[in-house]
Amino acid sequence: MRVLSGVQPTGKLHIGNYFGAIRQYVALQSEHDGFYFMANYHALTTIHDGPTLRQQTNEIAADFLALGLDPARATIFRQSDIPEVCELTWVLSCICPMGLLERCHAYKDKVQQGIPADHGLFAYPVLMAADILIYNSHLVPVGQDQKQHIEVTRDLAIRFNNLYGEILTVPDGYILETTAIVPGLDGRKMSKSYDNAIEIFEPEKSVKKKIMSIVTDSTPVEAPKDTEDSTILQLYSLFATAEQKAAMEQSFRAGGVGYGEYKKQLLAAFLDYFGAMREKRAALEQDMPYVEDVLAEGARKARAVARETLDRVRTAVGF
Ligand code: ADP
Ligand code: TRP
Repeated sequence: MRVLSGVQPTGKLHIGNYFGAIRQYVALQSEHDGFYFMANYHALTTIHDGPTLRQQTNEIAADFLALGLDPARATIFRQSDIPEVCELTWVLSCICPMGLLERCHAYKDKVQQGIPADHGLFAYPVLMAADILIYNSHLVPVGQDQKQHIEVTRDLAIRFNNLYGEILTVPDGYILETTAIVPGLDGRKMSKSYDNAIEIFEPEKSVKKKIMSIVTDSTPVEAPKDTEDSTILQLYSLFATAEQKAAMEQSFRAGGVGYGEYKKQLLAAFLDYFGAMREKRAALEQDMPYVEDVLAEGARKARAVARETLDRVRTAVGF
């Protein structure tokens, strides 16, 4: 079974991205044929600076490897190394009703945020459909926000097959658990757009500074502390064992320890959890030619699959 997903290289990966998405990609690669890519064609809807886009794309590739995606099991590539995707996008555009795209929340939300509406942003879901369909993907693990785009993809595949025969594989979404929303420093959902994120690979000093700045209530040191809404506890439980988590909860209830102390424990747990990955990331930083080799090999494998699908599509539509 082919599992495929993409991540836009629009910023540094944070803890929310790891627990909400990448950890699942890593788990899925052992049982399935994983295809994972940096969605840099998509990122072009928001980044209009060549060196920045190039650098961020390559950084996410190194991040993927450091976080455990394994080129021996999964196919890891840059979206833009497979230009066939753009040709399929055009074919799909020609069977895509305007209404289908006009209904998309992601587009409407971005327009509402004041991001100028250009054609790329509007057509974004068609490109995403092409990504999914060109590799005959069965399962597409994505966050809740991408669910509608999977529906668009399914609609387009079904429309295409109705017109031209059973050529495209109709994929299933695999919506990643939403119960595990990772909170940011201010207690809202961790997100690069809220400026409340702890990046997985940022320097220890700055992780420390951020953790120390986590917003807490003003319960005095000696008093018992609320375990329900604590960002510290929620983040700690991502890294800690069940016993460590229980111990911190108990200490919260008992009182007598200040938040500063818990923040220190959180920092230690973060460094412990991501330590080996952070070391690997630092080593990859010194060996970007290796990352480039991985991407070249990934592109070769992905492109062979894409070419085959596109050839069938071209014949079917009459080219
Ligand atoms: P951001 O909100 O920082 O822009 P993205 O939208 O690029 O993050 O998210 C990429 C992936 O990471 C998605 O699959 C999303 O569901 C997941 N993700 C992002 N933030 C969180 C979070 N705070 N908790 C859980 N998962 C998250
Ligand atoms: N739109 C996705 C996001 O912003 C990224 C993406 C692009 C993607 N193409 C894809 C995800 C294909 C899954 C499958 O998160």
